[in-house]
Amino acid sequence: MEQTLFTPANLGPVTLRNRSIRSAAFEGMSDGHLVTEDLIDYHRAVSAGGVGMTTVAYAAVSQSGLSFDHQLWLRKEAIPGLKTLTEAVHAEGALAAIQIGHCGLMAKKSISGGVCLAPTGRFNLYGPTWPKTMLKEEIHTVVADFGKAVHLAREAGFDAVEVHAGHGYLISQFLSSYTNKRKDEYGGSFENRSRFMLEVVREVMKAAGQDMAVVVKMNLRDGFKGGMELDESSEVARLLEFEGVHGLVLSGGFVSKAPMYVMRGRMPVDVMAANLKKDKWMKPWLKYFGHLLIKPEPFSEGYFLEDALKIRETVKLPLIYVGGLVALEKIEEVLGKGFEFVQIARALINDPAFINKLKTGEVTHSACEHSNYCIAVMYSGKMSCVQHNDA
Ligand SMILES: Cc1cc2nc3c(=O)[nH]c(=O)nc-3n(C[C@H](O)[C@H](O)[C@H](O)COP(=O)(O)O)c2cc1C
Ligand code: SF4
Repeated sequence: MEQTLFTPANLGPVTLRNRSIRSAAFEGMSDGHLVTEDLIDYHRAVSAGGVGMTTVAYAAVSQSGLSFDHQLWLRKEAIPGLKTLTEAVHAEGALAAIQIGHCGLMAKKSISGGVCLAPTGRFNLYGPTWPKTMLKEEIHTVVADFGKAVHLAREAGFDAVEVHAGHGYLISQFLSSYTNKRKDEYGGSFENRSRFMLEVVREVMKAAGQDMAVVVKMNLRDGFKGGMELDESSEVARLLEFEGVHGLVLSGGFVSKAPMYVMRGRMPVDVMAANLKKDKWMKPWLKYFGHLLIKPEPFSEGYFLEDALKIRETVKLPLIYVGGLVALEKIEEVLGKGFEFVQIARALINDPAFINKLKTGEVTHSACEHSNYCIAVMYSGKMSCVQHNDA
């Protein structure tokens, strides 16, 4: 009997050849915030390796949304490179998605045009920055920037956009009462905290029109006491279903507070410190206090499944499972429990041909051991697996 993973399925207006999606995982390959040959080569390789769709990670919708040196910034100048990338992906039979986001208080001022925007301006140790509380006009500008980014994504030939509403970036900062202390209509009650997300999603849906798929990556839980929990994330899922988005990616964690909740396991902080070449502030902090700042979280295969199943009971729209998938058996279990697609990051960093190898039976399990070296080195402008490099 054919495994569900290898069967085609619809995601809104587009059809994927199978149920696998390369999850948005920051490649660090955008010198000058533009597309490089390395970025194209990686997405070509992962497409040739069998995924149904590949997601270009974390493109900022504006300069103020940039937090990394080698991060993509979705603007006119990036279109020719992105066109080449989507053509390469399509030539291998996969679809192309792009994750769009704004980092909010995680901005690095040296590259974000000197600004750091947040729902509420409170000191952020990770920057380190003292962000500015966003004025309403600034909120409206960022909302409009998301719409413009979708138009640019269409021009570049993308089939889908993924709105980043999780992991403690700007939309997530508005949703979470930990980072949102506003007293106006964008803060306070859940209805108010979700207003910014809904304005963004409406703008994105309008720009996506009838032919592009729109998915939203959201948090199940922020991963720390005082952050968003499942009761509110269920409401987030209901609201997004009502807005007509085509799929939800269910993740969790908060970069400034619970970073390892996203990926689980331990962060090799010494490797991370060594790779922060230009960061005079973070380097010593990480070296001496990294183990306290970035606390390990236990890894188990499919670690978000229990929480994600609660959302499955709440909404009917397609759900995309992500988190700790390394074996065909677990992938089939997840798909058998009502998730339409699976997203995979590390097993595809470990081996871009993982999906084809599962299909031919060459492997049933990824060699990835969730050591997280690939995360520790990503700030230096390379995406590599410790098993294949001397990272
Ligand atoms: C190197 C690396 C970079 C990542 N960058 C992003 C990112 O830019 N955006 C995002 O939403 N998630 C990012 N993630 C999280 C992944 O998309 C995914 O949610 C997480 O790794 C769990 O999936 P996995 O167990 O298949 O790796 C990153 C993960 C890794 C390993
Ligand atoms: S460095 Fe390699 S083995 Fe370690 S988590 Fe990343 S992909 Fe997996």
